Amino acid sequence: PRSIFFSRHGESQYNVEGKIGGDSALSERGQRYAKAMPALITDNIGDAPLTVWTSTLQRTIQTAQHLPYPKLTWKSLDELDAGVCDGMTYEEIEQAYPEDFANRDEDKFNYRYRGGESYRDVVVRLEPVIMELERQENILIIGHQAILRCLYAYFHDLPQADLPYIKIPLHTVIKLTPKAYGCDEERYTLPI
Ligand code: F6P
Repeated sequence: PRSIFFSRHGESQYNVEGKIGGDSALSERGQRYAKAMPALITDNIGDAPLTVWTSTLQRTIQTAQHLPYPKLTWKSLDELDAGVCDGMTYEEIEQAYPEDFANRDEDKFNYRYRGGESYRDVVVRLEPVIMELERQENILIIGHQAILRCLYAYFHDLPQADLPYIKIPLHTVIKLTPKAYGCDEERYTLPI
């Protein structure tokens, strides 16, 4: 059976600073995760073929850099666009846009950042990625928190209202094995 692996990028500089969005590089910890990934993946699939998909953002590309597999970058895998809030911390957003902050809490799936996107928008832009995923064999997606929530919800058929709260921790590989109905799941966390 084929497998679909999901991982967030390794810890980024913005993750350390609590800022959302941006295009920051990996922290030292994130780089250690990137170095540990090849052994984890290879131990898991042996010499079966695999293709790695990343976004166009450098934190995903850096996380993939040591993996000895063919790679493809997708603009559609870039993180949810936070518009005017890109590069801010949640505290700064609450200060600058208190109403928006409250609205997001009310309906996180439908809330669209000013000049940016909602989770609903991201689900729509991921449609071509999902179509392609359905046709492929073993794929490892190195992605972002919001993006992986949408993909994970698709494969486990989870409701939209729960989707923005799915836990996709850093430094964890999620392995999905599609079955006739639903998917089996395993998680591997690297103590980095
Ligand atoms: O903080 C990392 C991050 O990927 C941000 O870039 C993004 O805006 C956020 O997570 C998405 O999570 P939430 O929708 O819970 O704010």
